[in-house]
Amino acid sequence: FTRWPSWEVSQHHFNLRLFLWYLELLTVIGHDTTVIYGENATLLCQLTKTDDDLTRIIWKKKTREKPEEDAFFVIRQGGKTEQRNGLEDRVQFIGNFAEKNGSIQLLRMRLLDEGIYTCTFNLYPSGPLETDINVTVFARPAVNVRGEEPVAGSLDMNLASCFASNARPPAEVMWRLGDLNNSLRTITNHTVNPDGTVTVVSYLLGATFKHLNKKNVQCMVKHGTLKEELVLDYTINIHYPPASVVIIPDSSTHAKEFKCIVDSNPEPTSCSWTRDNTLYYEGNKLPVPKWSSDFNGLYICNASNQYGSSLGSLYVNVHTESSTICWGLFGFVSCLAVLAAVAGVIFKFKQRVWSFCNYNIQYLILNVQL
Ligand SMILES: *[C@@H]1O[C@H](CO)[C@@H](O)[C@H](O)[C@H]1NC(C)=O
Ligand SMILES: *[C@@H]1O[C@H](CO)[C@@H](O)[C@H](O)[C@H]1NC(C)=O
Ligand SMILES: *[C@@H]1O[C@H](CO)[C@@H](O)[C@H](O)[C@H]1NC(C)=O
Ligand SMILES: *[C@@H]1O[C@H](CO)[C@@H](O)[C@H](O)[C@H]1NC(C)=O
Ligand SMILES: *[C@@H]1O[C@H](CO)[C@@H](O)[C@H](O)[C@H]1NC(C)=O
Ligand SMILES: *[C@@H]1O[C@H](CO)[C@@H](O)[C@H](O)[C@H]1NC(C)=O
Repeated sequence: FTRWPSWEVSQHHFNLRLFLWYLELLTVIGHDTTVIYGENATLLCQLTKTDDDLTRIIWKKKTREKPEEDAFFVIRQGGKTEQRNGLEDRVQFIGNFAEKNGSIQLLRMRLLDEGIYTCTFNLYPSGPLETDINVTVFARPAVNVRGEEPVAGSLDMNLASCFASNARPPAEVMWRLGDLNNSLRTITNHTVNPDGTVTVVSYLLGATFKHLNKKNVQCMVKHGTLKEELVLDYTINIHYPPASVVIIPDSSTHAKEFKCIVDSNPEPTSCSWTRDNTLYYEGNKLPVPKWSSDFNGLYICNASNQYGSSLGSLYVNVHTESSTICWGLFGFVSCLAVLAAVAGVIFKFKQRVWSFCNYNIQYLILNVQL
C-alpha cells in the first residue's frame, strides 16, 4: 500500500493540464469541401498559433484517380512552392506561410480529383502535425425531356422520358401529373456511367387515349447543385387520324370561303374537296368564286394524315329568285341521305347539321363521319 505524496499528485495534474492545453492549441484545422465539377476547390488548412518553427507544409492526396497516397505540393519558407505527381498548374497556394496558413486552391476540379487531401505542417521541434480534408466533387445533371409520339389506341406506351444525365450524386426525378396521376404511371431507371456519374430517367407510361393529347405535365428534377428544383413542362403528344371534320364559313352572311376544321394529330397532310365525285379543290379552305348557281353542288372535304382520313360535306344551293325562307333544307337532307344510300356509303350524322339562310342563298353543311 503506497500513498502518493500530495505534491506529486498536483504535479501530475498540472502536467496533464499542460498537455491538454497544448493539444487543444496545436491543431491543424481543415474544412471538408464540396465542389461542382469544373469549378475551383478551396482547401482551407490552418495551424493554430505555436512557437514552434514551421519548416514545410506538405499536401498529400488519395483520390479516385490514384488511391495510393501521393505528396503533390510542398510549401516552404517564404511561400515558395514545389509540385509533383500531376496536378501541374491546377494547384495554387493561397495561404500565408508566415501565418501558418497552408490553404490551397485546386482549379477546374474533375470527378477523379475527389478524395482525401492531407495537409501536413512540419514543425520543429514537435514534429509533423496533419489533418484530412474530404473533397467531394458533384456534377450537375444535364436535364431534358424527350417526347414520344405514340399513336392512339395502345394499352401501355411510353409517352415521354425525363432525363437527369451524368449527375453526381444521382438526381431525383419525378413527374407531376395533376389530374392525370391516376391514369398514367411512371418508372424510374438509374444507370451508373463509367465516370461514376449517374443518369436517371423517369418514363411516363400509359394507355394512349386521344383525349390525353395536349395535356400538360411537368417533370421535376432535384439535385444538390441546384438552388431550386427544375421544372420542365411537357405537353403530351398523341397521334391520331382525323376524328372529325367540321366545315365552317368565314362569315354567316356572305361567306368568301369555307374552312375545314379537322380534329387530328398531326394536322392533316392533305385536304381535298370533291364535287360530284371529281376533284374540285385542294386545300383546307374552299374559296367561293361567286355566289351564283354555278357554285351549287355537294362538296365533300376529305382530310387525311398518315393514320387515316375523315370526311365532311357541304351542300350549296343558290336560288336565282328571291326567297326569305329556306324550308327546302329538310328536303336536301333527305336527298343527301338517299344519295349516300345510293352510293353505298353509310353516313353517320355525328355532328350537328348547320344550315344558313340568306335571302337568296342556301347552304347546308353536313359534318359527317364515314
Ligand atoms: C478558378 O480560378 C481561376 C484562377 O484563379 C479563375 O480564373 C477562374 O475564374 C476561377 N473559376 C471559378 C469558377 O471561380
Ligand atoms: C487562410 O488563407 C485563406 C486564403 O487566403 C483565407 O481564406 C483564410 O481566411 C485564412 N485563414 C485564416 C485563419 O486567416
Ligand atoms: C471523410 O472521408 C472518410 C473516408 O471516406 C470518411 O470515413 C469520413 O467520415 C469523412 N468525413 C467526413 C466529415 O465526411
Ligand atoms: C393524385 O393526386 C391527388 C391530389 O393531388 C392525390 O390525393 C392522390 O393520392 C394522387 N394519386 C396518385 C395515384 O398519386
Ligand atoms: C433500365 O436500364 C437498364 C440498363 O441500365 C435497361 O436494360 C432497362 O431496359 C431499362 N429499363 C427501362 C424501363 O427502360
Ligand atoms: C381520302 O383521302 C385519303 C388519302 O388521300 C384516301 O386514302 C382515302 O381513300 C380518301 N377517302 C375517300 C372516302 O375518298
